[in-house]
Amino acid sequence: MARSRSKHVCSECGHEALAWSGQCGGCGAWNTLEETVVAPKTKRGPGSGGDKARKGGARATPLRDVARPQEARLLSGIGELDRVLGGGFVPGSLVLLGGAPGIGKSTITAMALGNLAASGRRTLYVTGEESAAQVRMRAERLGDDALAVPALAETDLAAVIGAIEAEAPEVCVVDSVQTLHSGELSSAPGSVAQVREAASGLMEVAKRTGTAMVLVGHVTKEGSVAGPRVLEHLVDCVLVFEGERERSYRTLRALKNRFGATSEVGVFEMRSGGLVAVEDPSARFVGEATAAPGSVVLCSMEGTRPLLVEVQALVAPTEVVPPRRVANGIDRNRLAMVLAVLSRHAGVQMGSADVFVNVAGGVRVDEPGADLAVALALASARSGKPLAHADGRPLACFGEIGLTGELRAVGHPERRLAEAAKFGLESVIAPPAPAPDLGPLAPAKTLRGALKRARAICADAASPVEPLDAAA
Ligand SMILES: Nc1ncnc2c1ncn2[C@@H]1O[C@H](COP(=O)(O)OP(=O)(O)OP(=O)(O)O)[C@@H](O)[C@H]1O
Ligand SMILES: [Mg+2]
Repeated sequence: MARSRSKHVCSECGHEALAWSGQCGGCGAWNTLEETVVAPKTKRGPGSGGDKARKGGARATPLRDVARPQEARLLSGIGELDRVLGGGFVPGSLVLLGGAPGIGKSTITAMALGNLAASGRRTLYVTGEESAAQVRMRAERLGDDALAVPALAETDLAAVIGAIEAEAPEVCVVDSVQTLHSGELSSAPGSVAQVREAASGLMEVAKRTGTAMVLVGHVTKEGSVAGPRVLEHLVDCVLVFEGERERSYRTLRALKNRFGATSEVGVFEMRSGGLVAVEDPSARFVGEATAAPGSVVLCSMEGTRPLLVEVQALVAPTEVVPPRRVANGIDRNRLAMVLAVLSRHAGVQMGSADVFVNVAGGVRVDEPGADLAVALALASARSGKPLAHADGRPLACFGEIGLTGELRAVGHPERRLAEAAKFGLESVIAPPAPAPDLGPLAPAKTLRGALKRARAICADAASPVEPLDAAA
């Protein structure tokens, strides 16, 4: 009889070692190796490759002879989700949906399945976390469609795979992948080995039955999905649901998508009847912009969609050494870079002040085009002068800042400007565009030039303003 093997798997990176050691040889983390006993495989299954090996190896096929996928994408009926997925679920694909506790992962998946069931698709909701009765309570809140979805409260991997084979759903949600466990492994549910086993088992059945699988995963303290990053390599698409729990706005973005762009973002709002897509987030964010000192509107791009957001800054004198630099919604390193360029090339010093920068509404902007907005918001916060027209309408901007103080072009200037024009924003400070006549564009070649422009535009205001870069 074959003996059971034991191996040690790192809970951070999934690196495998035969012997235990204090430090993982893969990622260098300490005390992360967990012993895992692998039960011997008693008999080879049909997919194990033994038969193929005997027949002289597997055959490769020219791609033009490979059959095209038969089915079109499955639309979840939630426009924002379908857009982030690249046009709906792909049959036979694996989607990992990650997010912090209570962000709304179960809600969005229950809503999507409800819509799919209402349009005549076969669906299955596997819940390992909540009882079927708890799932029913949520479904009642979401409406009749969600109540039509078959639910299975089960945590045993083999039983779940059996149910998927029997029911052959077109879309199946497993909430969450961390609660599944396989009897073949001795480690606890949620450990790397178990999560990986569950994901590969589900992937195999998804490919075989053509089921689009959605695996719900928790996000660890460090922010990666399901702890071990191994899952992110395995699946076709990684979606993350972000936002602050206290706020009602949630954003859904793709970190990886084998069937579409990763830059798309969906914006949702949590209401008592479930998540509601915010169709026109720019209107919300610009409507809420304060036009007070330290506030500026950024014309950003979220994937293929222009999005206007408000960037706010606060500069407060401090005795703390080193002073604080706090960034919410933008990259900390870019904030440090913008502060350095402001000081070196535009004469705006903030060495003895705490600096806070925030993108309003809990939105995250991950693009270099946000640099200029951060710089202008900081300059305005420091001088105490608002960046607004005489009638109170806020100033808008976008552009990347180079280390030599120049403004660099970013993608889709025409779409950003069109979005600003749509909301009646008169002046948008940005790097010069190749096309001469681009609506509200107020071009500037350098950061110093951009500050000068802002000063000129705001000098139209009823009260005369001091230069933005004058000491506060
Ligand atoms: N009646 C209600 N009205 C408004 N919002 C509600 C209501 N009930 C629940 N919510 C919101 O839904 C959230 C829970 O959503 P959901 O259960 O989908 O989250 P989750 O991401 O699956 O969480 P977990 O990680 O715990 O499974 C709550 O945090 C709350 O914001
Ligand atoms: Mg949940």
